[in-house]
Amino acid sequence: MTEAGGRGAPHEKQPKIKLNNGKEMPMLALGTWKSEAGEVERAVQDAVRLGVRHIDTAEMYDNQDEIGSALERLFSEGVVRRQDLWVTSKLHNKNHARVREACQDTLKQLRLDYLDAYLMHWPIATDDDLNPIPGPPIEEVYHKMEELMDAGLAKSIGVSNFSVKKLRSLLKEARIKPQINQIEGHIYFRNEYNIHYCNVHGIHVTAYSPFGSPDSASMSGRKVDISYPLHDPMVIKIAEKHNKHPAQVLLRWELQRGVSTAFKAVSPEHIQSNLEALDFELPQDDMRALTTIAYTMRFVDGAKWWVRENGPIKSLTDLWDGEELTGWPPGVSTYAWLSSDKL
Ligand SMILES: NC(=O)c1ccc[n+]([C@@H]2O[C@H](COP(=O)([O-])OP(=O)(O)OC[C@H]3O[C@@H](n4cnc5c(N)ncnc54)[C@H](OP(=O)(O)O)[C@@H]3O)[C@@H](O)[C@H]2O)c1
Repeated sequence: MTEAGGRGAPHEKQPKIKLNNGKEMPMLALGTWKSEAGEVERAVQDAVRLGVRHIDTAEMYDNQDEIGSALERLFSEGVVRRQDLWVTSKLHNKNHARVREACQDTLKQLRLDYLDAYLMHWPIATDDDLNPIPGPPIEEVYHKMEELMDAGLAKSIGVSNFSVKKLRSLLKEARIKPQINQIEGHIYFRNEYNIHYCNVHGIHVTAYSPFGSPDSASMSGRKVDISYPLHDPMVIKIAEKHNKHPAQVLLRWELQRGVSTAFKAVSPEHIQSNLEALDFELPQDDMRALTTIAYTMRFVDGAKWWVRENGPIKSLTDLWDGEELTGWPPGVSTYAWLSSDKL
């Protein structure tokens, strides 16, 4: 992680990570999943004006047109220059057979000439109604993404929701190593097995849902009375000790463990407060306490969306290859794996 300095305007404080292609990506992103029409345009404008320099979006979020309006305004008013803002978008599952066209559609919606990063959103092909279907092989889809990088339409490429098993087979075929794997990551689902594999292979991990995605409970089919990281007693205790908000502690923990992270917020108070995660440091004992919480929960497991008895993904294991429950496949002992040649 390269720090841009602890002082100055918030945008000058954005830590960046150098990807395996040499591009420097701001580590704290504004996420936009579930940010509704009518609120996302303002949220993106507020965030950039407040100092955020990375916007994370996707065709599947169905709000790229509004985000495009916000970007157009921010550039035309000189709030930020194009080269100083990082925009990540993702290939929709329904477009695995039309990668270039999908990227061009996304660029048009966002009113951009290029994306800083374009990720394969899920290793799953679907029809237009989001029903999983047997699509082209993942490696073939990825080769089309490599061509986007060749053409300058995406400066960096990567994947999302890829297990170690799927990354391993992708790496055997890839001409351009993915720069990023975007996966769920927070104190209740640290995803260390996947992160460690990515570190060893020079793939940067962006951790999504740092607060456990509380606003996706109903659409993901989760119980409502579940524990969330923002309400964890350990997080609250550490936040009180440092006179910080629990959200700031959760974001700080992500950055200090070396992953970038995308938080979703539409309220300007939340955005402002979350940016203040850049203004302090967690001591090692707090980092350790947060990294050893025993409770495990994958909030965005995809069960409701992708797993169908009669579809190509019949179980969570088909999707996550054993990483579904704790992030560690059964039978893999942490120490044995880390010191083995399985990497
Ligand atoms: N690649 C993928 O498949 C994938 C999957 C999931 C997420 N993501 C990305 O990661 C982003 C973040 O994940 P997420 O949207 O699942 O959820 P999240 O960031 O874990 O949580 C979002 C919720 O936290 C609230 N919040 C934000 N800041 C807060 C604060 N300071 N205090 C209290 N509450 C706060 C938000 O409220 P308000 O909105 O009301 O401010 C919203 O309800 C997504 O938006 C998306 O860009 C990617």
